[in-house]
Amino acid sequence: MGNNKERKSNPWVNWALFGGTMGIVFLLGLLVASITERRAEAIFAYQPKVALNEFEPRNEVWGKNYPWEYESYRKTRETDFSTPHGGNAMKDMLGESPEMVILWAGYPFSKDYNQGRGHSYAIEDVWNTLRTGGPKTPDVGMPSTCWTCKGPDVPRLMNQMGVTEFYNTTWAALGPEVVNPIGCADCHDPKTMDLTITRPALIEAMELRGDDITQATHQQMRSLVCAQCHVEYYFDQDRPGAEGANYLTFPWVNGFQPEDMLKYYDDIAFSDWTHALSRTPMIKAQHPDYEVYMTGIHAERGVACADCHMPYISEGGLKYSNHHVTSPLKYISQACQTCHRESESTLMKNVIDRQNKVLELRAKAENLLTRAHIEAKAAWDAGATESEMKEILYDIRAGQWFWDYVAASHGGSFHSPLESARVMGKAIDYAQEARIKLGRLLALKGKVMAIPYPDISTKEKAQEYIGLPMKELEQEKQYFLKEIVPVWKKQAAEREASYDLKP
Ligand code: HEC
Ligand code: HEC
Ligand code: HEC
Ligand code: HEC
Repeated sequence: MGNNKERKSNPWVNWALFGGTMGIVFLLGLLVASITERRAEAIFAYQPKVALNEFEPRNEVWGKNYPWEYESYRKTRETDFSTPHGGNAMKDMLGESPEMVILWAGYPFSKDYNQGRGHSYAIEDVWNTLRTGGPKTPDVGMPSTCWTCKGPDVPRLMNQMGVTEFYNTTWAALGPEVVNPIGCADCHDPKTMDLTITRPALIEAMELRGDDITQATHQQMRSLVCAQCHVEYYFDQDRPGAEGANYLTFPWVNGFQPEDMLKYYDDIAFSDWTHALSRTPMIKAQHPDYEVYMTGIHAERGVACADCHMPYISEGGLKYSNHHVTSPLKYISQACQTCHRESESTLMKNVIDRQNKVLELRAKAENLLTRAHIEAKAAWDAGATESEMKEILYDIRAGQWFWDYVAASHGGSFHSPLESARVMGKAIDYAQEARIKLGRLLALKGKVMAIPYPDISTKEKAQEYIGLPMKELEQEKQYFLKEIVPVWKKQAAEREASYDLKP
């Protein structure tokens, strides 16, 4: 205050203000023009270039109409991003954890088990794995049901053959038919591009629970499309009306908890195989990714699979969903920082910390269960009877189910760390119960010293211990890849050349 000097207006200041304002107006005009142009570009780009057939299985044909989604989908070919417990590079799980060879003795998983790669590898990887063997003729080998989660030829075939008929043949018989890897027609309706459920097993499982999937909200659909495949399942051979077919079924009638599913399997006396050492009637948990995710905080807060695994990308005036489905740690800024303000390194640490803690329990459970199988074999060898072994085998069955439920749930230790740790705790408890009972039984049979633990420090040693003929299995696979797969590919190419494409 105080100084009442009159302010004289300076003409230069006025002109500068005027000029500045005009400049800003001009730049804003440029921006508007650019946005309109990009919009026009976007609208132009979404003009369909081809009319999609009702069951068009070829991703590259859909790609002509939706180039951005298709280009991002193609990145599922990348194999260069590895995180401590995930990523898109191939990891030899049995090599990292040879005890799993013992846990799956007598079951194909003991031959070969790699960490999942991107969706576009689904067909190649199922050709390549030793688990599918080398069928030389279409009448032998794995059931056709193994194709169900591999790609968009499946809805096409189910429509053509009938669902039960699709499940009622061999993997090799449908080899020439299923050649396009997981893609557009698995999740989208070609007419409206809406998300859609193409796999009957999910619809049927929800129906049995009294849920009508057609009433699902848009946000629920952003997870349910994944739940077509990323779930626990088994092959039902006694389904009324489809007896004998390997009918894909989700064991959800009693609920989504691992206890509910174990009860389901117990009630129907189901087992996937009998363990080669302990003779336990075993259940193989598949990949209950959706079920475990649902018990986590993100699901509870309404965050969908697609929010983290398919986040939006903005490029100029374009906004589209990233179809490069992979570890979200590759895209932290789009996948996490839309909701979280922490730095990339903090979020990365939060994920890895949770995974490491669950892994600590998992390693414990794995070791105890391996010992239980080996000690059970020693008990049989020492003359134990069926009735003496009954409770012990149930403890092993339940313990390994709980272990596998977490081990096979990809990402589960982040999706729901507390539930993963709880279930792993149950695995440890059952395995310990089995071993206490085994200790008593073995003593009764005169075996008071500890049962020696074999050298299974590498995958190769473990496979030798359970007597797998790895050389033969590999030769059989090489023959299959060289002689059979090229024939399948040729037949598929001939069929697809006959599809007409209307512009
Ligand atoms: C038609 C079945 C199917 C559907 C639908 C499906 N997946 Fe997959 N997914 C698979 C299979 C099979 C693999 C393993 C592919 C391989 O290893 O060759 C896989 C692999 C993955 C991987 C590992 C990829 C990597 O780079 O490590 C992630 C992550 C994934 N899926 C997430 C999802 C999400 C999220 C959805 C829903 C938006 C979804 N999937 C829908 C079958 C499916
Ligand atoms: C595993 C399931 C899945 C597969 C496979 C898939 N999509 Fe999508 N797609 C989604 C989801 C989820 C969204 C987000 C939809 C929403 O929220 O409305 C989406 C959105 C879209 C959209 C709407 C615009 C956008 O980007 O959000 C287009 C177009 C699209 N996808 C095209 C494709 C094409 C082309 C392919 C094959 C190359 C494909 N999708 C494969 C799940 C899938
Ligand atoms: C759509 C929003 C959203 C996205 C995307 C999202 N989160 Fe979250 N996240 C939440 C909410 C909400 C919570 C619960 C916090 C609360 O309610 O106080 C949460 C909780 C968490 C927690 C604590 C959970 C626990 O175990 O206690 C971690 C860690 C976390 N998020 C990491 C991530 C990471 C990493 C990503 C990306 C891969 C991610 N979030 C993506 C919304 C989101
Ligand atoms: C809040 C974010 C978030 C949500 C929601 C989410 N995921 Fe994940 N997912 C992750 C993170 C983080 C990982 C760990 C990636 C790693 O270890 O590199 C992961 C790992 C995975 C993996 C293993 C990928 C790999 O690289 O080996 C699969 C498969 C997967 N998620 C599928 C799903 C499915 C299916 C859903 C829905 C039912 C879902 N995710 C929901 C963040 C999320």
